[in-house]
Amino acid sequence: MDNRSIGVFDSGLGGLTAAKEIMDLFPNESIVYFGDTGRVPYGTRSKETILKYTYSDIRFLLSHDVKMIVIACGTASSAALPHIKDEFSVPIYGVVDAAGYAAVRATKNGRIGIIGTSATIKSGAYTEYIKAHRPGTATFESACPLFVPLVENGHFDTQLTELVVEEYLSGIRSAGVDTLILGCTHYPLLQKAIARYMGNDVTLISPGREVSRFLKKKLDESKRHSPERDKEQYRYYVSDSVEQFEELGGIFLEKEIDGQVSRIDIEKY
Ligand code: DGL
Repeated sequence: MDNRSIGVFDSGLGGLTAAKEIMDLFPNESIVYFGDTGRVPYGTRSKETILKYTYSDIRFLLSHDVKMIVIACGTASSAALPHIKDEFSVPIYGVVDAAGYAAVRATKNGRIGIIGTSATIKSGAYTEYIKAHRPGTATFESACPLFVPLVENGHFDTQLTELVVEEYLSGIRSAGVDTLILGCTHYPLLQKAIARYMGNDVTLISPGREVSRFLKKKLDESKRHSPERDKEQYRYYVSDSVEQFEELGGIFLEKEIDGQVSRIDIEKY
């Protein structure tokens, strides 16, 4: 038993797709969430910058004495995690292996699409996982740099979203994939538009949902579940506007988070 919080971070709102699953799966667990809204997007930055941001995000969460950290960001998971995972005293889990595992299990025709930020696609991390665990699988990748700004500005399912979805996904759709990894945690927020475009026969894999399932295994194995609920169960921190995060985060989480979000200076960490 360990009643310390689980630390979760992302460049912004996207990691809430993991936080929400964790809340649903583990009603007793407390979460410290950090959305680096002052430095979003990560996905268009160099590997060095992503690494630097990831270090400071982890240091911030460690200052809250978390028992484990979930990198709820495809970009930081693929570009930074492999370099840092053994450097810290708490376990750190990323989304790539969890989503890759789910995709390999889901595909029937051995054709998997992968969408993500430019940095994630450049890293080749998802494809590497898939080829290692299901040799012979064909993967089709597309970087979707406009998806994150669409989400951060609340365009979850508008005409603009539809246009951009078609632009980025037409190649993958015509490749005949039966499984699509939404390789960035922001993308499940565009799920309706993506699902409509790809059709009912394509399974969409959400990295946030998959990493929560993976976490269940880890919590069970290490017996570090929280025995009871904390009064201040969920705390959210951002590095820019509190109001915008409260508004959009609240819509996504389907509950008010007003008054639970604080702004911090991430440059100090
Ligand atoms: N949610 C992040 C990811 O999963 C978004 C990256 C970004 O800020 O560009 O990759």
